[in-house]
Amino acid sequence: MRSIEWKDGDIVVIDQTVLPGRLDYLTLRLTDEVAEAIRSLRVRGAPALGIAGAMGVAQAAVRPHTSSAKTVLERAEQAGTQLAATRPTAVNLAWGIRRVLAKGHAIPPTAGALRIAQAMVDEALAIQAEDEEACTAMAKLALEFFEPKGVVLTHCNTGFLCTGGNGTALGAIRLAHDEGLGIVVVATETRPLLQGARLTAWELGHLGIPHALVVDGAAPGLIARKEVSLVIVGADRVAANGDVANKVGTYPLALAASAAGIPFVVVAPTSTVDLSVPDGRAIPVEERDASEVTSILGARAAPAGTQAINPAFDVTPASLITAIVTEKGVARPPFAPALRDLGNGSRRAAARTASVKPKPARSVRSKPARSPKAVSKKQARSVKTVSRRPPKRVKAVSKKKSPAKQKSTPRRVKAAKRARRR
Ligand code: MRU
Repeated sequence: MRSIEWKDGDIVVIDQTVLPGRLDYLTLRLTDEVAEAIRSLRVRGAPALGIAGAMGVAQAAVRPHTSSAKTVLERAEQAGTQLAATRPTAVNLAWGIRRVLAKGHAIPPTAGALRIAQAMVDEALAIQAEDEEACTAMAKLALEFFEPKGVVLTHCNTGFLCTGGNGTALGAIRLAHDEGLGIVVVATETRPLLQGARLTAWELGHLGIPHALVVDGAAPGLIARKEVSLVIVGADRVAANGDVANKVGTYPLALAASAAGIPFVVVAPTSTVDLSVPDGRAIPVEERDASEVTSILGARAAPAGTQAINPAFDVTPASLITAIVTEKGVARPPFAPALRDLGNGSRRAAARTASVKPKPARSVRSKPARSPKAVSKKQARSVKTVSRRPPKRVKAVSKKKSPAKQKSTPRRVKAAKRARRR
């Protein structure tokens, strides 16, 4: 099952607010329900917001049945306006809505209400299918940034839960793991709503990818101590100059990565690139309710009446970014011409920006990290750090769900202990 599905006019989604405790599916039948699901982050993450917005508009077009082409388009427009107002930062939402509306308007009214509404449904499904393909393409292109046995730090949740496919940054991590690179993932907790702790750790556990969680405040320190070889994140909006809005807490990671001289890579489909916005200052940053900060998982964390500032995103300047991986190619500094070329979709542009080819799968597979001796110094240091505080938790995390698939982490911990004794 995908995290979002179209079922005969219903939109069925995984409720991301109750994970990892419960895996609940919600059926959204009305625009109000779709809007509520987006606003409260039951459906979240830029590409999934694009799909949800597109499906929400298509749903308003097909339901209830009418023989009036004018009514279909009016209802779809109204739904589009309502849904676009739910969350301002991820450009995919407005983009998905606009695409479905444009499709409806492109069909002559004489074709009839049914044809117009069906074309809008088809467009929403096409957006989802394209995003699945984009995830696959981005993961392949991002492989070049992973080093064998590297320690990869990621922020928020960028996996199957919030895309039409395997994910953006997390999709790349998944492919690197599947290719036998022997990576270990450090996932940030991602306060205030814990997308990293609740969702990324859940996805990584199911995939059998060795991982450990850190509180957001610890991540820059790990990077500074060179215990991380790559920082890889998604994006909610990429401005024309390459500035990137992503989950709050991304910017300090980029600063730390730049200071430590390690790559900071953004993985985002071209539907997240907004060439109409010149730079990060023009990206609207969603401010969410203070209660998300003053409480954790519904329990009060600060004295009653405490004020809080709660920007849901921050903007990382292009100058701190190593590369932006899209499905059409890898953009590198200077980002403005590279992104413009990708936006124009020219093959030449893709060839120019994707200048370094991903490592061929075979050479990657030829050196699987099977032996504890194969654990790199960097990885051993990082696991050692995690295992010191407290060792049991690493085991508990790695044992979760697919024990067969996660055999390698205890070996890594042993290797780290051996490394410490030396
Ligand atoms: O507030 P959220 O959970 O919707 O924020 C999501 C993020 O910031 C993700 O990193 C981003 O959308 C990339 S998703 C593939």
